[in-house]
Amino acid sequence: MFQTLLTTLENGIYTITINRPDKLNALNKDVFTDLKTALDEIESNAEIKSVIITGAGPKAFVAGADISEFGGLNKAEAMLLAKRGQDIFARIENSAKPIVAAVNGFALGGGCELAMSCHFRVAAENAKFGQPEVNLGLIPGYGGTQRLVQLIGKGKAMELLMSAHMIDANEAKQLGLVNYVTTAETLLEHTKKILEIINSKAPLAVAGCIKAANAVYDETKDGYALEIEEFGNAFATEDMKEGTTAFLEKRKANFKGK
Ligand code: COA
Repeated sequence: MFQTLLTTLENGIYTITINRPDKLNALNKDVFTDLKTALDEIESNAEIKSVIITGAGPKAFVAGADISEFGGLNKAEAMLLAKRGQDIFARIENSAKPIVAAVNGFALGGGCELAMSCHFRVAAENAKFGQPEVNLGLIPGYGGTQRLVQLIGKGKAMELLMSAHMIDANEAKQLGLVNYVTTAETLLEHTKKILEIINSKAPLAVAGCIKAANAVYDETKDGYALEIEEFGNAFATEDMKEGTTAFLEKRKANFKGK
């Protein structure tokens, strides 16, 4: 089904491994095409409850957009490239199912942008984050200037964007860019444990949290109004009845996503 991705589905967790290790999993056209197909699958396959995105090999999550595809692009073509990347990363950010980046090495340029488009990040201790585009006479094009500011604040983001400075996993955690730092060996296991907990919650409520939290960064939306709407929507679900009844009956809720 995919040229550049490996996928597995276990216990409702769909793991997507970007699989170009000889090119440090750089994002070329084929990876974007495959990611689009994978997003269609995530949206349509009811067995998928949540998603992990990671990179193949011991060295890199994703070392950026594939620089070899940049040669000869004119301004309009470059803008289209950025738009396509932004659209796909926006689909990740707005996915109703949780998508988490398990960062197993370099997350540079488009790789850092991909990780930032996920709902949150777990990093192995060898992970390195950065937006090195200024080294190439470029700026980030897949949402990096926006999401880095959102995640770590303007001052530090400005410094990283302008200097191309790379930070390690522990600094990324101090800055709030990643939630946990693990060993390389335990990265996927740790990420799966977090998702198993999330997968045991009411899926429509989880989707409501994603939608409302994302509205903070969307000027076209009133986040408080959206929260009221999603709170109301939750009351119309079977899972809300099941969750509140299970609490009162002192038993574990059995959510159906309805
Ligand atoms: N695009 C295309 N190819 C890339 C790539 C990218 N973003 N990042 C790495 N590669 C390729 C290298 O060209 C090399 O290919 P080759 O073996 O055919 O020559 C291979 O991946 C291994 O990379 P290499 O540079 O030899 O590894 P390293 O350990 O010496 O350095 C990095 C690792 C991540 C520091 C270095 O690869 C790098 O700086 N990459 C580019 C990062 C970047 O600027 N990203 C933003 C792009 S907009």
